Amino acid sequence: MIRENLYNGSSMINYRIVLKGPTELKGEISISGAKNASLPELAASILSGERCILERVPEVEDIKTMIEALKNIGASVTFESNRAIINMKRVVSPVVKREISETSRASILILGPLLARNGYAKVALPGGCDIGDRNINFHLDGLRKMGARIETESEKGYIVAEAKFLSGIDFVFPGKTVTGTENLLMAATLAEGKTVLKNCAVEPEVSDLADFLIAMGAEIKGVGTETLEIKGKSGLHGATHHVIPDRIEAGTYLIAACFKGNDIIIKDCNPGHMGSILNILRRMGFKIKLDGGSMSVERSGPLKGVDVETEPYPGFPTDLQAQLTALMTQIDGLSSISENIFNNRFRHAVELNKLGANIEISGNRSIIKGGTKLKGSYVMTTDLRASASLVLAGLIAQGETIIENAYQLFRGYENMQKKLNQIGANIDIIEV
Ligand code: EPZ
Repeated sequence: MIRENLYNGSSMINYRIVLKGPTELKGEISISGAKNASLPELAASILSGERCILERVPEVEDIKTMIEALKNIGASVTFESNRAIINMKRVVSPVVKREISETSRASILILGPLLARNGYAKVALPGGCDIGDRNINFHLDGLRKMGARIETESEKGYIVAEAKFLSGIDFVFPGKTVTGTENLLMAATLAEGKTVLKNCAVEPEVSDLADFLIAMGAEIKGVGTETLEIKGKSGLHGATHHVIPDRIEAGTYLIAACFKGNDIIIKDCNPGHMGSILNILRRMGFKIKLDGGSMSVERSGPLKGVDVETEPYPGFPTDLQAQLTALMTQIDGLSSISENIFNNRFRHAVELNKLGANIEISGNRSIIKGGTKLKGSYVMTTDLRASASLVLAGLIAQGETIIENAYQLFRGYENMQKKLNQIGANIDIIEV
């Protein structure tokens, strides 16, 4: 069980993961609610002074950090058995402190709803990130166009935003941004008049947020498309919402199911959100069996390497890039993945090579020479999905794999150690 909070005020308590391999996994894994839908939906509760209930919220560190931020602002929040009950009756302190923003970049999702509700918001600039530039200029450009005065007090590292009221706008995102779309969508629900947002991100998590906002009384058209039309309201009421399953968690375990000797049924997921990864695995020669909200994999025919590009949804998600790389190290022949979303998301390749993989990076492309036997070693992880990739590799590596800085894993995978050990893995977590 993960301790209440890994942040002890001065430094991150850290954990080390120790995996003994190789192990063959056999059994069922149930998928949790989507972290990246829960985060904007928790932030959206700021838009109403009434009680909001979110079901199927995963118990992971990024969620706990978001809840802490909401409490600091003035919300009463209870969170147990994956049910979050939030009531932001009134805003007491419209500030998101640095230690919150540095722990989870998703705290930027508070800016839009807090400004719309309160007319003033002060959010610490999100901390650095190991996967590349995480600009927020599209978020700020849109809010400025809505009438907000925004200063980034760079010397103190805070964004201060003020607006007596926000006006509806026509805005075309210069590039696809998931949280940028979510921030402006939330702000627009309380803006005066109509807002039309174009070139929006269409990830399922954006649509799930829109569904929750509509349940709260927002008027939104075009859900699931690149053009969202929002008619601003004077206020939103409380609502109850079930969060969609986490397609990245499901994709991570589906990839685990592809490793030789594994026989895993992934349950309680939505294959409809996972078309790109299903097609890639089929191109590699895997047979995917779908049965309602369950999936499993058959390795019957020959397998082959493939070339893949990460793209905004519905393309192949960057959040599965590191995990697919781990699988590709086991498929004979050459594979490659081009990372088109972030400019520094190959740190896992260096660590996988320490386990015996043969991965070369050329520009934004990783080239994987497959069919390599992996041997346990001491590795370091830098981001949430790199951690997952190293766990997948450690499960099949010969001997002991030790993953340092395992806090990253707890940010986004609910009960990963328990879910995997229940089906045959040998994973220990040690506090350091
Ligand atoms: C969301 O991050 C996800 N996080 C990320 O998941 C995911 O990797 C990413 O979308 C891409 O799918 C959450 O939803 C909480 P972006 P986000 O804004 O919104 C550039 C995980 O592991 N950009 O879509 O921060 C940006 O620099 C995390 O769960 C601008 O230039 O990503 C990046 O190169 C990791 N200006 C690209 O767009 C902006 O104003 C995509 O960023 C905004 C973005």
